[in-house]
Amino acid sequence: MFGPPARRFQRVGHLPHMKRILITGAAGQIGTELSAALRTRYEPETVLATDIRNPAEWAGAYHAEELDSLDTRAVRGAVERFGATEIFHLAAVLSAAAEQDPARAYRINMGTLLNVLQVAAETGCRVFTPSSIAVFGPETPSDPAPQSTLQRPTTMYGVTKVAGELLCDYYHTRFGVDARGLRFPGLVSYTAPAGGGTTDYAVDIFRCALTEGRYTCFLKPDTRMDMLYMPDAIRAIVELMEAPSEALVHRNAFNVTGMHFTPAELADAIRVHMPDFEIVYEPDPLRQAIADSWPARLDDSEAFEQWGWRAEYGLPDMVADMFRGLRSQLAREGSGSARR
Ligand code: SER
Repeated sequence: MFGPPARRFQRVGHLPHMKRILITGAAGQIGTELSAALRTRYEPETVLATDIRNPAEWAGAYHAEELDSLDTRAVRGAVERFGATEIFHLAAVLSAAAEQDPARAYRINMGTLLNVLQVAAETGCRVFTPSSIAVFGPETPSDPAPQSTLQRPTTMYGVTKVAGELLCDYYHTRFGVDARGLRFPGLVSYTAPAGGGTTDYAVDIFRCALTEGRYTCFLKPDTRMDMLYMPDAIRAIVELMEAPSEALVHRNAFNVTGMHFTPAELADAIRVHMPDFEIVYEPDPLRQAIADSWPARLDDSEAFEQWGWRAEYGLPDMVADMFRGLRSQLAREGSGSARR
């Protein structure tokens, strides 16, 4: 049902140890592509995809389970039954959705991470969980935001991500859990839709371009934000988790980035492929305020120095690849009239 596995991934020649990976939030924007990439890189049977949604709706032919990661016993049970050695914890409420019900976002983002870290401490699992550009706030230097700097976010999502970074560090120093993270900027991809984020415009714009030829943007034309193309994001996760522990100073969490652009600049890059593409701007005050509180660019030099991170995709390559991939995705979904 979902598209092809993330490209550019080779199977590893040998496994250093018997890796067995449990993924939460596997039906989401990152989870869909990460599950596929990990099945390609390791053996398919060493990956267990879980999500709060019924697997019949999203898992296709792969082994998957329904899992509410707010339920500690259920998380422990799934980890023990599968014999997981690593947990990739992706379940979370994103920035714009979190502002609709901040208490719920706090409960879900903190409660699920605490459960995962606690079970990891009991079972010896390693942990990956994404952090975000949202850990920064208006007082952080904006261009670029350094790796180590002021973290005073003004959104509930940011509050949970800062607390999440600290919680991961705490479980590492207190219980020896090898918990690692990346501060992702907006992630652009076509396989599964984004949901509830402020950077989602950079995903929705492609679908609307192909199906309607126009897009109504919820941010102002000059809102500059950091972005990363999903194949780079997936590679960053895998490379970070395979990096030798001794090399890491900042395990939670590394700044990573690929490109930074405004909605107007993205629209221009889309017009290279679709000269008639139209964009209009109807800024949504909530999402505009969130975007304005985040840095324009992350400084990811420490990720490069500590584990060799480097993004491959810039804006033009990403746009070309999005059109290629999304056209086939729309054809698979049977949405019919994708424009040329
Ligand atoms: N993409 C996320 C959001 O917009 C940021 O981490 O919420």
